[in-house]
Amino acid sequence: MTELVEKLCSAGNLSDEEMKLLITAEDTAVAELLRIRADEVRQRTYGKKVFLRGLIEISSYCRNDCLYCGIRRSNKDADRYRLDRDMILSCCESGYALGFRTFVMQGGEDAYFSDDVMCDIISEIRRKYPDCAITLSLGERSRDSYRRMKDAGADRYLLRHEAAAPDLYHSLHPDSMSLENRKNCLYTLKELGYQVGAGFMVGAPGQTTEHIIADLRFLQELQPQMIGIGPFVPHHSTPFAEEKGGTLELTLRLLGILRLMFPKVLLPATTALGTISPTGREQGLKTGCNVVMPNLSPVDVRKKYDLYDNKICTGEEAAECRMCLQRRIVSAGYEVAAERGDCAGFTS
Ligand code: 5AD
Ligand code: FES
Repeated sequence: MTELVEKLCSAGNLSDEEMKLLITAEDTAVAELLRIRADEVRQRTYGKKVFLRGLIEISSYCRNDCLYCGIRRSNKDADRYRLDRDMILSCCESGYALGFRTFVMQGGEDAYFSDDVMCDIISEIRRKYPDCAITLSLGERSRDSYRRMKDAGADRYLLRHEAAAPDLYHSLHPDSMSLENRKNCLYTLKELGYQVGAGFMVGAPGQTTEHIIADLRFLQELQPQMIGIGPFVPHHSTPFAEEKGGTLELTLRLLGILRLMFPKVLLPATTALGTISPTGREQGLKTGCNVVMPNLSPVDVRKKYDLYDNKICTGEEAAECRMCLQRRIVSAGYEVAAERGDCAGFTS
């Protein structure tokens, strides 16, 4: 089965049947070779650099009702908050001092953050930190909204597609949401010149190997600059409270496969991966990941951005989280890159 790893490494692609064998192979030699090849491929483009993204969780209000998510509208137990302009700017100020050159503003779909409010914040960050990249992760919005925020100075947008197979997408989301709209948002963002991130959860309830292959095919079609994947982790106040979570092994397998399919992509070792295993992010870095996203949100709101149970980094100050990740990066044999960290070869 190791020959499939070599084939994926040289051709960058496999047939559906081969992909299925590679995803499900239990042979430990496959996992080991995939890690080695994924690391070689990331080092060819990015060396040992790991890019830092300062994550600012701006709101836990959300009009959506995704079945897996702890901040879904129906979760009446969720403790909601939103940051105001000054709080967001002060996160950027401490983040800049800590060496971050990308700020990610992520939040639920909160009507408070209208285009006017967002554009005002984005242009102020752009003015104060011309050397930084501004990334948004605010869910589905209109083309006009995406365009205005791009014009105000945003560079990148993260919007996981969550599931490219219609049956799985519909079992994870309420009827009010559609896969078609999700995909359209991603294509629109690309057209507008954003560096775009898509992705999905590993081990989501009902997810089969065929569903995962559909996700890989969609990513091949979209050709995003960033791909975010992490294990599904159940949240106690959602309909999926009793479901099993995604595994470390399958997440690492897919990270390695993604690195071989998309040699230049920006691939984060996610917080969810660090949540299911104390060494999850380090193992991710060794299996092709080249991005980590330390939490820059004010400590008093962190526990409220409660997407899934036992989320890590909720008690630490920004500086502590930054240093903790730096130690982890160095212990895994990599180095922190103090730069914007754009996707290699990206031209807008
Ligand atoms: N487990 C893991 N990841 C989750 N997300 C939302 N809920 C969960 C969960 N229970 C992910 C989604 C979303 C991102 C911000 O967090 O994929 O796009
Ligand atoms: Fe946030 Fe370790 S990375 S506390």
